[in-house]
Amino acid sequence: VPVQPFDIVIFGATGDLAQGKLLPALFHRWCDGQIPAESRIVAAARDAMSAEEFRALTAARVAPDGTVAERREAFAKFARLIDYVAVDVSDGGSGWGELEAALAGGESKIRLFYLALPPSLYGPVCGAIAKHGLRTASSRIVLEKPIGHDFHSAREINRRVGEVFPEDSIFRIDHYLGKETVQNLLILRFANFLFEPLWNANGIDHVQITVAETVGAGRRASYYDTAGALRDMVQNHLLQLMCLVAMEPPSSLDADPVRTEKLKVLRALKPVTQESVARSVVRGQYRGGVIEGEPVPGYSEELGAKSRTETFVALRAEIGNWRWAGVPFYLRTGKRMAERRSEIIVQFKQVPHDVVAADHGRPHPNRLVIRLQPDEGVKLMLMTKDPGPGGVRLRYVPLNLSFAETFTKDYPDAYERLLMAVVRGNLALFMRGDEVEAAWRWTDRVIAAWQDGQSELYPYAAGTDGPTQAALLLERDGREWFDGF
Ligand code: BG6
Repeated sequence: VPVQPFDIVIFGATGDLAQGKLLPALFHRWCDGQIPAESRIVAAARDAMSAEEFRALTAARVAPDGTVAERREAFAKFARLIDYVAVDVSDGGSGWGELEAALAGGESKIRLFYLALPPSLYGPVCGAIAKHGLRTASSRIVLEKPIGHDFHSAREINRRVGEVFPEDSIFRIDHYLGKETVQNLLILRFANFLFEPLWNANGIDHVQITVAETVGAGRRASYYDTAGALRDMVQNHLLQLMCLVAMEPPSSLDADPVRTEKLKVLRALKPVTQESVARSVVRGQYRGGVIEGEPVPGYSEELGAKSRTETFVALRAEIGNWRWAGVPFYLRTGKRMAERRSEIIVQFKQVPHDVVAADHGRPHPNRLVIRLQPDEGVKLMLMTKDPGPGGVRLRYVPLNLSFAETFTKDYPDAYERLLMAVVRGNLALFMRGDEVEAAWRWTDRVIAAWQDGQSELYPYAAGTDGPTQAALLLERDGREWFDGF
């Protein structure tokens, strides 16, 4: 279904995010007929270049020579929507007049400003948008994560952006919320009766959330080194996933009911202490190794300097409320791990009494595996009787829902969905300011404990599951990490 015509200004248009995600996403939505022809894309960046040069730069990334002719022809048509303006976003910078001219005539359309920029520029750029009179009544601002680098900087960004844009026109992106399987989580939980009665400390032993990547810091190493895995992944993606697993049922899937319930989870996270961080949080950094048969360098070689930044975190979190008292949530994420795999595993409790004699096998607890990527799917592990004449033998088998096999439809990638949601004004897939601040409050305490010098940084070889200390974290609790599929 086409959205309304819109103008989008992408600041940072020559950067990795814009070139690698945003422009391809807009192109794909345009190919699908979702973007009306009157829409315009105004790319803005520091570099002096013509619109023609910018289109060629983007074409080389999105539809390079060698891709099928149809894609290149389609891109050439799509590129007619794109204009380019050199804007220096620093204080008193140049180019704002040109930007105003490029947007002329679009005052009645929906106008999006996408800040694919470092967060320190969010406040100043919003100020400049206001000063140069670019904000129309139907303007929306899109901010990429991370929103700041700690609670105070996030609050300051929220304040400065909030001086120019009302909260209901601020779209803070956490692209995990745009993933098909992540959205499915709420439907799985709240459109089935089956799970909810057991979805609490009485029925659930623990929850594991893993986001493992094979990529390294690579070209982003200089940004990444100022962030690390806790700020880059846990503060946003992993905590958001945890919220969706742990939240109370919202009254509807509208933005505020959902966001308010997520906020309550973040606020109920048990605060960490110096002591608990040393016990419950493991930091790691990859060394050289082999991934899918290819040798890869270690983190400090990629960065070109020694560093104490973590590229892996595993932690045990607890939510202090009635539903979750005593249920650990184990979160882990890392770069250069053995395989790319994101999944949520809900481990139910053991049955209270065995009806089958011990020598016929012990029942395993039920396990729900939600595979976010790749090979999206949901799997419920059940005990069954092994078929055959030889009496009762237990067998642990999956009820398996593979998205690829069940839904033949292609679905849009996270950025495609999120960009169209901004045009539609659907805030439910975006973080509210108070959520971001609550998440920082919790991660700030972890960072503070690390900075007090108590934290070890464990090495792990690229192409493995991270440092062995991550396995010990669960072993100490009598548990282990599962490879869910
Ligand atoms: C980004 C992080 O938010 O998410 C990156 O900044 C990370 O470091 C990426 O690689 C992972 O996203 P996805 O969609 O590939 O799982």
